[in-house]
Amino acid sequence: MIVDYQWDSSLETGQEMIDTQHKQLFVAINDLLHTYRQGKGSEELSKSLDFLTNYTIKHFFDEQRLQQKYHYPDYENHKKYHETFKEEVMGFSRQLIMKGPSEELINKVCSTIGDWLVNHIQVQDKKLAAYIKAQDAAAH
Ligand SMILES: [Fe+2]
Repeated sequence: MIVDYQWDSSLETGQEMIDTQHKQLFVAINDLLHTYRQGKGSEELSKSLDFLTNYTIKHFFDEQRLQQKYHYPDYENHKKYHETFKEEVMGFSRQLIMKGPSEELINKVCSTIGDWLVNHIQVQDKKLAAYIKAQDAAAH
């Protein structure tokens, strides 16, 4: 069983909304892990995974809106990363319904989402936050 994913300050972008939502995403990943460890059935696990999926989609939407507001030059690329990953996350719910819960599947879901997030935050979201910060500084 994989260890819990924790948000830590190395993942901080400095953009408040983005950081708040990232923290919530890590909480949602751990909720799914805990739900499984408590021996809950398919229904509870589906609920937990649905929350994680929906929150991921909401987060991407909010982040993209922020990029548009700031005319972020790398918007199209960043959006593509989000879209591709969104498809993958939505596929997990279908797998859970078809195959039923297993340690293997829950591990795969949590590690795939957790690892993707860590990478994406470190590279793409930090780049975005730095751009926003520079734009804000230039405006004042
Ligand atoms: Fe992002």
